[in-house]
Amino acid sequence: MSFGKIIYRKNTELSKRIDMQKVPEHVAIIMDGNGRWATKKGLPRSFGHNKGVSVLKEILKASKNLGCKVLTVYAFSTENWTRPTKEVDFLINLFREVLRNEIEEIHQELIKIKFIGDLSPFPKDLKQLIYNSESLTKNNNSFLLNICANYGGRQEIVKVAKELAIKSSSGEIKPSEVNEELFNSELLTRGIKDPELLIRTSGEKRISNFLLWQLAYSEIYISDVLWPDFNEFEFLKAIIDYQSRNRRFGGIESLPNESFEDSQYSS
Ligand code: FPP
Repeated sequence: MSFGKIIYRKNTELSKRIDMQKVPEHVAIIMDGNGRWATKKGLPRSFGHNKGVSVLKEILKASKNLGCKVLTVYAFSTENWTRPTKEVDFLINLFREVLRNEIEEIHQELIKIKFIGDLSPFPKDLKQLIYNSESLTKNNNSFLLNICANYGGRQEIVKVAKELAIKSSSGEIKPSEVNEELFNSELLTRGIKDPELLIRTSGEKRISNFLLWQLAYSEIYISDVLWPDFNEFEFLKAIIDYQSRNRRFGGIESLPNESFEDSQYSS
């Protein structure tokens, strides 16, 4: 049996364990470990980022096939500017290449692409490519791919607070009207359901300033696999693990005929 057939069979076996009624609508991913993957192989870090792009393509396809509706990936954090200039330039160029080479296929697949973050420091030509990609795909409604670039969760929250303060001082809103719903409406992810599942690869157990507001009740799945080695099989494992969780949103599990006194407090 060929290697491809073995992988197909392994993935199909795993797919059978997935409850199609409980597929998360929105999955967020911290794609971590590109550099370590390359270094371990004695290669420049750029090789890890290149491989990371092909993994992203595989996971995009897998999540769409499974019935997810939104995938949000952390491609470049506000802290990533502190990396050596050569690596930052490489990543910026990688964004250019991905947009140039993949946007037609993304569009044909009826995927909408959206960049989330402060794009102002990026080179003009990249901003133009981003604008063109978003415009081309803006009416696609089969799937949404959010790419977080120069994104930071704290910066996003501060930006919302500032917007609301401005609206309040101009009299557009009253301070007493500020609530979660209004706050949500100013977020970069406005209109998008919060992720039910956050996947982080490479074994790190941190949120790293990613979607701080939106991840409030997300289930977190840490995979020890480095992002360039992540694949559909590992993604399906994360979904199965997510489906085994008991999501209580700070409440308690509602069991039939269970009285308040009988139930266990839970957080
Ligand atoms: C984290 O690995 C990865 C990144 C900072 C970049 C992720 C970007 C891609 C996979 C390319 C995506 C491209 C588009 C257009 C979305 P790391 O470098 O922090 O790895 P390390 O922790 O092992 O050093």
